[in-house]
Amino acid sequence: MREDFLLLNPGPVPLSADVREAMSEPMVSHRSAAFEAVYERAQDGLEYVFERSTPSEASTSVGGEALILNGTATMGMEAAVANLVDEDDELVAVVNGKFGRRFKRIAERHCEVTPVEFDWGDPVDLDAVDAAVSDDTEVVTVVHNETSTGLLNPVREIGEIAAAADARFVVDGVTSIGGDEFRIDDWNVDIAVTDGQKALAAPPGVSALYVADGVDESQGLSSASEGRSPSGNRKPSASGDNQNTSCSDDVDAHIDGGNAPFYEDLDWHSRKAGQHQTPFTSAVPLFRGLAVAVEEIEAEGMSGRIARHRRQSTAFREAMWAMGLESFPELNEATAYSNTLTAIDLPEGARGDDSEAFFDAVSERGVSISGGQAHLGGEVFRVSNMGNLTSDQLLRGIRTIGEAFEQVGVDIDTEAGVKKARNELDA
Ligand SMILES: Cc1ncc(COP(=O)(O)O)c(C=O)c1O
Repeated sequence: MREDFLLLNPGPVPLSADVREAMSEPMVSHRSAAFEAVYERAQDGLEYVFERSTPSEASTSVGGEALILNGTATMGMEAAVANLVDEDDELVAVVNGKFGRRFKRIAERHCEVTPVEFDWGDPVDLDAVDAAVSDDTEVVTVVHNETSTGLLNPVREIGEIAAAADARFVVDGVTSIGGDEFRIDDWNVDIAVTDGQKALAAPPGVSALYVADGVDESQGLSSASEGRSPSGNRKPSASGDNQNTSCSDDVDAHIDGGNAPFYEDLDWHSRKAGQHQTPFTSAVPLFRGLAVAVEEIEAEGMSGRIARHRRQSTAFREAMWAMGLESFPELNEATAYSNTLTAIDLPEGARGDDSEAFFDAVSERGVSISGGQAHLGGEVFRVSNMGNLTSDQLLRGIRTIGEAFEQVGVDIDTEAGVKKARNELDA
């Protein structure tokens, strides 16, 4: 691998030297005090990120718990859904990209699903969501930052719709949490999902959930309908201390250890988290990397981190426009461009089969970016600014993309793009 290799894919993202070093320490038992200390550091750091991802860093949650899973975000998505529903329950899945569709597909294995679908890259029509959600809806799912299209979906507004129907609200914040604003109670979020390998700049293979107290105190995970206080009306945790308590003491026996997936039984995860452990063998090196990564975020502060991600995504996007390229996603008044990754239409001369030469020209320069997923292959390219990128790395990415297009014969103004980005980054 070239020394100057630059990873700009929307996950996994580059790791700091300290994260990499932490992963290579001598092995310890996942039942040792040394590991428990790692779990506690990772959980504390994650709770900071989940609860304080705002420009002011004020807490957005009256209480909740971060749980860490041995597995990527798809496991986290499934854990969230499968612990909240019974097979006859109704779930509304908002879909406008690959990961919204993944939520739908996961849910179809666990309950009855009403999808609210839009073309990938199109904004969410809130009236359509409102029409699909009813008093029979137990859970609503949405992806905050749709990585396949570069759209930031209107989570606050969808959360209001879910809360009005007294439905649980499960949000995939996989490529927003740790890089952009995220609000638990204001947005009525019951369970938020994120992944190590994205904006947290931790290694791939671990994901995390934040279970808000609105879920665990009112009636426990998984028996969704009885005795639940509406989202947004959560009571503060009595003790504020999750140690050695189940997050769902009164959970329905049907699900608790029964219908909840064995490996992803969140009640069990919560009980073990009280001891700073996981129910099964923990991926020790990955947890160590995660602990360092979230501590690095806390050192930077979410306020500065959000501002940096916004500045960098704006610089990147405007550079692409200055070069003569166009953004892929369509916006409406409730939807915005992602602040953590950018999806750009491939121009004539580098679309379809011609796109391969462009991506090769990018890799030859030691830079890795992503193409479109599923039917968007050959249509778009996607570039991440998640994690701890410097301005110089972003500028190199922009120059590389411009030069690669020039190499394959696309008429593009690379210098105009680099200049535009530099001005944005310096502003
Ligand atoms: C928004 C979003 N959700 C979920 C996932 C799933 O992650 P994984 O495939 O690593 O489980 C991804 C991965 O890119 C993602 O971007």
